[in-house]
Amino acid sequence: MDKVSIGLLGFGTVGTGVVRLLTKERERLEERTGCAIQLEKVLVRNKNRPRKVLIDSRKLTTDVYEILDNPGIDIVIELIGGVDRAYRYILRALKNKKNVITANKDLMAEYGEELLLEAKKNRCDLYYEASVAGGIPILRALTDSLAADRIQKMIGIVNGTTNYILSKMSHEGLSYEKSLVSAQRLGFAEADPTSDVEGLDAARKMVILSHLAYSIPVKMEDVKIKGITDVTREDIVYAQKLGYTIKLVGIAEVSNGDIDVRVEPTLLPNGHPLASVENENNAIYVYGSLLGETMFYGPGAGEGPTAISVVSDLLSVIRNMALGVTGHHIFMPKKEMHPKKDSLIESQFFVRLHMKDKPGSFSKLTDLFKEQGISLEKLYQEPIIGQDVAEVSIVTHRAHKVLFEKSFDMLKKFEVVLNAKYFRVERG
Ligand code: NDP
Ligand code: HSE
Repeated sequence: MDKVSIGLLGFGTVGTGVVRLLTKERERLEERTGCAIQLEKVLVRNKNRPRKVLIDSRKLTTDVYEILDNPGIDIVIELIGGVDRAYRYILRALKNKKNVITANKDLMAEYGEELLLEAKKNRCDLYYEASVAGGIPILRALTDSLAADRIQKMIGIVNGTTNYILSKMSHEGLSYEKSLVSAQRLGFAEADPTSDVEGLDAARKMVILSHLAYSIPVKMEDVKIKGITDVTREDIVYAQKLGYTIKLVGIAEVSNGDIDVRVEPTLLPNGHPLASVENENNAIYVYGSLLGETMFYGPGAGEGPTAISVVSDLLSVIRNMALGVTGHHIFMPKKEMHPKKDSLIESQFFVRLHMKDKPGSFSKLTDLFKEQGISLEKLYQEPIIGQDVAEVSIVTHRAHKVLFEKSFDMLKKFEVVLNAKYFRVERG
């Protein structure tokens, strides 16, 4: 094999990074693979739009079939995003016996199994490293490097946009809105950033990670999801006063064959390695039964880091083509899905509330938790000047989720409680 031809679908943030890398590093990449890498065609919506990287305009096309049905193209790289169109394009590419690389987590979380089966059937590769945590090679680590270990738990900061927003709100006092605009400008956010801030993007990544780590076919509807839109600067400040950092984390945990997968803003002790993961960086903290604890850390979004994952996948495909083993690596979840019952879930909780600042208010709170058998680990109270209102923050010891939620509902009904919210606390 002396040459491979590539068709690229999409020339946005990641597509630009891929073209830049293939152009700049051409010699080194070709030396590594031992064959010429030819970028044949690039699908765009608008051929006249100015591009950030130089490209022969004859390579641009608005006709996807010039790529999908082109017998001269060996590998299709899908970087247009979205689900329906990307699904149809990848399916067609696979049926036409083309190897495929994608960064599309929306698609892989929903149709991953079906597309992987189709790839296997056609003896084609389907790689998707960039779909989780941008430049961090976590999918390779789970399928290869950690394959011998039994993974028990993964805690991931897997969305760069929300981590960037929370970092800016925490350290620079920037508003949520300004931080989001900045993340969009830097190219981290999805075309519709709702999926970032509502936690859906992180949930999709946890679905993909769970397939590979546990061989369990988790679906999006199995994931409990809460985004960061309700996290305020005050929540961040009062969590800090008790020694915690708020992060949007995804947790996938298996015990006794049952799995619990969730994404929510969570308090981490300041000393936890994940607490110091800032800006668009991502990290996945993995608990293996023999290996113990490992953390994979790096840039989770953006042009360069994501392009590295895509082009590294490309090198794997070229190697597999040369060896005649495309489609052989494909891994499908084999176990059944057994969700962990809510009644078995335990956690620590952080409660933040405003309470009338009058005698007996505080003891009403502590009495409630005492009666429910929930013990408190940390308490903080300060008056809000000029309002006869107290700002109260509490961290409980571990408690059953169901019991805590019942107690929290009772607390909200107290006449002295003006408003209250809670977050989970993860010890690690
Ligand atoms: P962008 O929105 O920046 O780019 C999308 C590109 O696809 C554009 O070039 C656009 O064309 C083209 N496109 C979209 N729809 C069509 C269509 N119907 N026909 C032809 N071309 C089309 O997206 P990103 O590069 O940010 O993301 C691409 C994928 O990578 C997504 O799945 C995303 O989730 C994933 N990803 C993104 C990361 C990031 O940091 N941005 C990180 C990891 C994964 P035109 O230029 O003409 O408008
Ligand atoms: N929007 C995603 C993020 C891109 O912010 O993490 C990387 O998958």
